Amino acid sequence: MGTYASSTHTGLHGSARTRVFMTCAMAALAGLLFGLDIGVIAGALPFIAKDFQVSDHLQEWIVSSMMVGAAVGALAAGGLSFWLGRKYSLLLGAALFIVGSLLCASAPNPAFLIGARLVLGVAVGIATFTAPLYLSEIAPGQVRGAMVSAYQLMVTVGILVAFLSDTAFASSGAWRWMLGVVAIPAGIFLLGVLALPNSPRWLMMKNRNDEARKVLNSVRPETAVVEQEMKDIARQLQVKEQGFSLLRKNRDFRRSLALGIGLQVVQQLTGINVVMYYAPRIFGLAGYSGHQAQLWGTVIVGVVNVVATFIAIGLVDRWGRRPILLTGFGVMTVGMGALGWLLHLGVSTHAEQLFAVAMLLIFIAGFAMSAGPMIWILCSEIQPIKGRDFGIAASTFTNWVANTVVGATFLTLLNSLGHAQTFWLYAVLNAAFIAFTFFFVPETRGVPLEKIEENLLAGKPLREIGR
Ligand code: BGC
Repeated sequence: MGTYASSTHTGLHGSARTRVFMTCAMAALAGLLFGLDIGVIAGALPFIAKDFQVSDHLQEWIVSSMMVGAAVGALAAGGLSFWLGRKYSLLLGAALFIVGSLLCASAPNPAFLIGARLVLGVAVGIATFTAPLYLSEIAPGQVRGAMVSAYQLMVTVGILVAFLSDTAFASSGAWRWMLGVVAIPAGIFLLGVLALPNSPRWLMMKNRNDEARKVLNSVRPETAVVEQEMKDIARQLQVKEQGFSLLRKNRDFRRSLALGIGLQVVQQLTGINVVMYYAPRIFGLAGYSGHQAQLWGTVIVGVVNVVATFIAIGLVDRWGRRPILLTGFGVMTVGMGALGWLLHLGVSTHAEQLFAVAMLLIFIAGFAMSAGPMIWILCSEIQPIKGRDFGIAASTFTNWVANTVVGATFLTLLNSLGHAQTFWLYAVLNAAFIAFTFFFVPETRGVPLEKIEENLLAGKPLREIGR
């Protein structure tokens, strides 16, 4: 990738440009679906709870079954995208998205709904692993970095669209429609994926070099570029991926793996998905008792999430990862801490309600401008090439496991620890992550991946592998 990326400009013409654009649009749609499925449950949950008369504990499982499925899907996706190829994995994901959404919409009872969300989760897990992988293998080198952030942006857009659609269906309480309409973008995704070419890197893994050359010719500006890229891929493929055995043999890989896993645990323990899944409930705690007010509040959460992601995209290559993360965790500590404090004192006046909402939004903005995109970027940068697929699969899997734990414990925490204490717990965790960032997170801004790998394997402390 190095030679190709540094020696050419995009320089794409006509059909090649359309092809690349279509390809990116498809992968972005996968991000959108991921976001839709994260977002949709918040607005639907209150109506589901009413219809089925389910306990808080069962609600937690309705929310979390999707994440359990996603963890399974992310695990399976590594093998699937190797055996079936990236394109057909995405296709399988798309089909499961449609089936899962329709099953959710038609669920006759809570147990069925939990099963349906499990299926949907497998789709999300496959898509979240395969789409960025496919993207990085087919997008021209110069736009690869921007792609990861753009993907996260689409996740936030998906969440917002889901919140909006929840609100639109709310007056009728039509939770089945809320869950079912996701099948429409999933159908578009399926048709789009059918039109995608196979990943050239995967074709070369399968010794189908002629086909790989054909695909590359259709998405690159000239043949010289294609031949150079094929040489680069062939050289990279000689480095045998070692996953498990590397894990046993190499202490430095264990360190980068632990960092990737740690980063994803940290991202989830900020408490972000407590808000994404239970926002209406939190607005309820803050004194907004009507469904409409709760849902509009939730839409505002979605808007702030999208807008603040732009801040991250603008800053990431200027400030660097560490200052952004340190700032973000600081902001999140304040937001969660103040919200807990308000709940402790009791929210009664209108001014107090507004203040509570402001604190919630500050928390969201803090996340979206920092840990949201930054953690995914760092996880894709820190693994040595021999263990990259394995390392990224492990950290993505962890994201979903931690996500499940957070989603499955929030209502229990509220009921056992108390409202204020639950938010304080998240405030304390965010404060601790300032220290985590300070001691363990490297600054990788503008550093070539080869350099990061060299430093890691030379045994430098993790926070210094970007120097
Ligand atoms: C996280 C998701 C979260 C989303 C919110 C992503 O980076 O991995 O768990 O729901 O951001 O925008």
